[in-house]
Amino acid sequence: MSRPTFFNKAANSNDCNVYGFFEKSTSTWTYLVSDDETREAFIIDSVLDYDPISSRISTDTADGLLDFVKEQNLKVTRILETHAHADHLTAAQYLKRRLGGNVPVGIGKHITKVQATFKSTYGLHPFATDGSQFDTLFSDGDEVKLGSLKSQVLHLPGHTPDHVGYLIGESVFTGDSIFMPDVGSARSDFPGGSATDLFASANRLLALPPHYRLYVGHDYPPTERQETGYATVAEQREMNKHLKSGTGENEFVEWRAERDATLASPRLLHASLQVNLRAGALPDADEEGRIFFKLPVRVPAGF
Ligand SMILES: [Fe+2]
Repeated sequence: MSRPTFFNKAANSNDCNVYGFFEKSTSTWTYLVSDDETREAFIIDSVLDYDPISSRISTDTADGLLDFVKEQNLKVTRILETHAHADHLTAAQYLKRRLGGNVPVGIGKHITKVQATFKSTYGLHPFATDGSQFDTLFSDGDEVKLGSLKSQVLHLPGHTPDHVGYLIGESVFTGDSIFMPDVGSARSDFPGGSATDLFASANRLLALPPHYRLYVGHDYPPTERQETGYATVAEQREMNKHLKSGTGENEFVEWRAERDATLASPRLLHASLQVNLRAGALPDADEEGRIFFKLPVRVPAGF
């Protein structure tokens, strides 16, 4: 049984309960978001454990989440992704199976762009690039009803083109559109990423009412603080080290480009994408039941 790292009880009847689960090896926040009245819940950005050295997948983290859902007597009605992650594998399909097979898995509709890019990178044939691996493809402004709460999908491109956030009550699950104030922002150098778009998306979040809570998709805290899942809009406006009020677009874009040029590829990049583009399904097994990931190799010119 895994216990949540934190629990935020809904501040009022218009807001949701939020259980935050921090997965340490990928620094990922998974959120279980629920409505008090109906006990309905969403799972946002789940994690499937993967050890790249032994190429071994395990479901300990996902099983802990499922145990907790059961213990709390919650009814999961959606499994949501904020984007196709490049740094961890999603447990969406595993969770869907374990929850009876009918809970829809949703992501932003521009996942089709990400699928087209990486179909080519990984030479995936055949591979549908129409998003059909997912059950729901969201557009900006779509409603995703959690019990009696008002909820809306926000298209927040920049980190990736498919990126969305989920506004549920007075809480926003922002994925990698903004990070904690002392971490700042996410990289925008993945294919289809854009620092200009990221700046606009973050500012869309910062224009929400000041008391709204912005829940982050990852946290990489400095040594003096614990992992934290959220800051309010007011706190982000005042303190975000890359995006606080008064930051100009050019300043942000230039800084982001400089910083991104120094960043290495994520440790679980290839496995993450090959699973996450499939909504969390693994590549088909061969006739002997073996499953493989592809690993593109870069060689020097003239090799
Ligand atoms: Fe990400």
